Amino acid sequence: MASEIEYTKIISDEECAKAQAAADAASHLSADQIDPPTFYVHQNYDRYTDENHAVWRELYDRRWSVLASQASQTFLAGLEAINLVRDRVPMLDGQQTWKGQQINGINTYLWPLTRWQSRAVPGYLPAKAFFACLARREFPTTIAIRPRDKMDYLPEPDIFHDIFGHVPLHADAVFADFLQTYGKAALHCDDPADIERLGRLFWFTVEFGLIREKGKLRIYGSGLISSHGEADYALNSPVPERRPFDLDRVCDTTFEIDKFQPIYYVLESFEQLRDAMNNYANRVLNSRPAAAAH
Ligand SMILES: [Fe+2]
Repeated sequence: MASEIEYTKIISDEECAKAQAAADAASHLSADQIDPPTFYVHQNYDRYTDENHAVWRELYDRRWSVLASQASQTFLAGLEAINLVRDRVPMLDGQQTWKGQQINGINTYLWPLTRWQSRAVPGYLPAKAFFACLARREFPTTIAIRPRDKMDYLPEPDIFHDIFGHVPLHADAVFADFLQTYGKAALHCDDPADIERLGRLFWFTVEFGLIREKGKLRIYGSGLISSHGEADYALNSPVPERRPFDLDRVCDTTFEIDKFQPIYYVLESFEQLRDAMNNYANRVLNSRPAAAAH
């Protein structure tokens, strides 16, 4: 796939190709044959340039300046809990010295909280490979960062979208359980109609979800958290329709990419999302033939 960001600077060509091939092959395997660690790559942290860190800092500062008034409290607490800092691209694992200071990977903070981990991957994963990672409480993360001339909009995920946008919520026990249940249900579902419905659920919650907290509308979806333009539009514009969250209705709603959303769904709490997902997962998984269940 042609990419606008240069993964190979951080990951070796060979490692990248091998991991991507393993992820692509997962589409043809049964759930129990899929082995997510084969999709993962090493984040060569020292390969990030000063320019990469400067882009991170600018993206971080721009979002941070308004996030306290826009984002869910759960998200903001998670951001602090995983120790996401402004001065450098996040490191995923381990500890090392960087510019004379000792730094720790975000996973070292995340693991004790919810047993979730972020795992570096070579780029887009096919759906089944992605679901298999979530089912293990592992979040596939792109590790390259956008170039400066794509600051405002990048059609593909980068580390700012994946880590800044997604990972803080993985520090919340309720959201963390929801996301794993989502992964399990999607991984074990064989009906393309169910997969499509689950794709919509992901879009309208994990990517573009809104939540009401203390009577105020807040963003929690990664597509909104990481987008300066759409976050304000989603919260304040009179144009989009904001519907109360209803899982079946969400799953029946089609969406379009590459433009601001005409519809958002608003949660009353993350427990509402987790409970609705549990019900849906039971429905999907119990309707499978017994032989396929495990
Ligand atoms: Fe995303």
